[in-house]
Parts: sequence; C-alpha cells; structure tokens
Amino acid sequence: MNKLGILTSGGDAPGMNAAIRAVVIAAQQKNIETMGIKGGYQGLIDRNIDRLTPFNVEGIADKGGTILKTSRCLEFMKEEGRKKAVRVLKEFDITFLVIIGGDGSFKGAEKLHHLGINVISIPGTIDNDFAYTDYSIGFDTALNTILDSISKIKDTDLSHDKTTIIEVMGRYCGDLATYSALAGEGEIISIPERKLDFDTICSQINSKIASGKHDNLIIITEKMYDIQELKKYIEERLKISVRTSVLGFIQRGGSPSAFDRILASKMGVKAVELLTEGYSGLAVGIKENKLISIELGNVNNIPSDNYEKLRLLDTFSTFNKGDQVLS
Ligand code: ADP
Ligand code: F6P
Repeated sequence: MNKLGILTSGGDAPGMNAAIRAVVIAAQQKNIETMGIKGGYQGLIDRNIDRLTPFNVEGIADKGGTILKTSRCLEFMKEEGRKKAVRVLKEFDITFLVIIGGDGSFKGAEKLHHLGINVISIPGTIDNDFAYTDYSIGFDTALNTILDSISKIKDTDLSHDKTTIIEVMGRYCGDLATYSALAGEGEIISIPERKLDFDTICSQINSKIASGKHDNLIIITEKMYDIQELKKYIEERLKISVRTSVLGFIQRGGSPSAFDRILASKMGVKAVELLTEGYSGLAVGIKENKLISIELGNVNNIPSDNYEKLRLLDTFSTFNKGDQVLS
C-alpha cells in the first residue's frame, strides 16, 4: 500500500482542516494510507508522524486552526535539515507528500521536490499573497472576521464622529485590506502595492470632512507604518482625534467559511489526484473558478494578477472620490 504524508506549515489558516480531511478521504479511496506529520517541517524532521484515518478526520471541517499543528522551522531552511527530512520520509516509506501552507512553505516544498520527493502543495494562508491563484484557503474567513470587526468599529465611530485606523494582516500583500475596505465601506486604504504617504492620507481625510463625513475608516496593511506615529501625525495636522485598532490574531482563527471549506475540499481531492497521476512539484490553485495546477517555481510569476488587483483598487476609489459631496 502506498503511503502519503501530509503536513501544514507556516501560519495556520481556517480551512486547513477541511483540506486535511479531503486528502485523507481521497487517499483512502485510492487505497493509499495517510500519515499525518505533526508540527510542519519541524515535525517531519523530528519524526512526529502518525497514521491518519478517515475516522480521525471526521467532524473537523468546521474547525479553525490545524489538527496537525504547524510551525516555522529554522532547521528546514538549511540543507542538512532538508536532507534529514528526506531520510525520515524514506524511513516511513512515504512516497507522496502534500504540503499545505503559504509562500515560505511552498519554497520548502519545491526544495523537497528537487530532492526527489513527490510533492503537491495546497495554498493555505489568510494573506492571499500568491499571484497564481485567485484565492488561498483561509482568506475568505479572515476577510469575514475583519468585516465583523469593521461593522462594530463603524457603529461607535459614527456615534462619536470619529476616525479610526484599522491595521489588518496580510504580510506584504494588500488583499485583506483592499477587499475588507471595499466590502466594509472603508474610506481610505493604504497597502504595500499602493502605499500612501502621511500627507496623502491627511488630505483624503480632509476631503471627507469637507464633504460632511466625520467618521472615516482608514484601513492599512500591517508592517507598513508605526500606527501610533500615523495617528499622531493626523491628529496634529487635522486637529481631530483618531482611534487605532490593530486586529491581530483574531483574523487567523475561527470556523472556516463555506467558501473556504469547499475550496479546501476541492483542492485536497485534486492534490491526491495529481500525485496518483504521477505529478510532482506542483501547486494547486483556483483561477476563474476552475482548479488549476502550476509548477512551484512559478507561483509568484504571473503579472496579469497585479492587473486585477489594481482594478479592485480602482473600484474602491469609485466609492471614495475625495470631492464627493454628501447630500
Ligand atoms: P508561510 O508558509 O505561511 O509563508 P513561512 O514563510 O514562515 O510561512 O514558511 C514556513 C516554513 O517554510 C519556514 O519556517 C521554513 O521551515 C520553510 N521555508 C520558508 N522559506 C524557505 C526556503 N526558502 N527554503 C526552505 N524552506 C523554507
Ligand atoms: O501569514 C499569515 C500571517 O498571519 C501574516 O498575516 C502575519 O504577518 C504573520 O502570519 C504573523 O506570523 P506569526 O504567527 O509568526 O506572528
């Protein structure tokens, strides 16, 4: 009987469990035994590996996080660590490997592929920072979590005519900020792909105030500014008081949305199909509502995606022309 190893790596994302469940069930239907590797690449190196049956994955599709646990593993960044991982896979007779994670995890997966391991990757990250796929597992859930917070902040901002800067996750990708600002009726966004300087942010707020709108949401991606410095700058320049809200890890947890569960289920089944058809070194994705697969080395080499992102920003600005006068 063939053996398939599965691990989750990097930041956890809601929907990872649904992907694990899909892989285990699809593998069993092809008479493949699944071995759960606990704790990402670190767990692989440490031989933290146990059999995973369909019974073990029953009822996990609605749970956030990952039952396999995850890690950021420094040892695996070194060649010696990766060779150790390969030796462990051989020792356990694991011939197929599914890796669920983000950009960094995919780089590790590509290296394992070049070391002769049959590996397929599934994108699991709230950041949605892959160019090759429209969505990664976890993004939709995190987006909805952010929207829930935005609604609540808006209630109190409106009551007090306040402006709030909301910092969302995304690492170096502005998707969580852009999508949440569009869906949550934010007024201003600043993201790595189109970063605004402090003065531009002030002048955009000013236009809003001039048009009669005093409760304004500024949604920014993490790691771009010191949020307290930005708050102070706006307060001094515009003589208004500004609130800040860093949403933090609530964005990573929670029960996955229907979209993420379904995406994860489809991708999990596809990953097993690809492995049994003899493919390796590929990442599963979704483009125009169709499952696709692409070489791991090419996951961030697709410029057309940037065009879509910029179009979304333009859509956003349609709702936020600075000189719009409220009647
Ligand atoms: P994510 O997968 O969510 O982007 P990280 O960037 O932290 O999260 O990557 C997860 C793990 O993948 C890292 O801790 C490391 O073990 C492995 N990894 C990341 N980059 C590389 C790389 N260039 N080569 C080999 N392994 C890597
Ligand atoms: O990649 C997911 C993510 O939540 C990013 O949005 C964020 O920058 C990072 O992980 C936080 O990582 P850590 O869990 O190591 O603090």
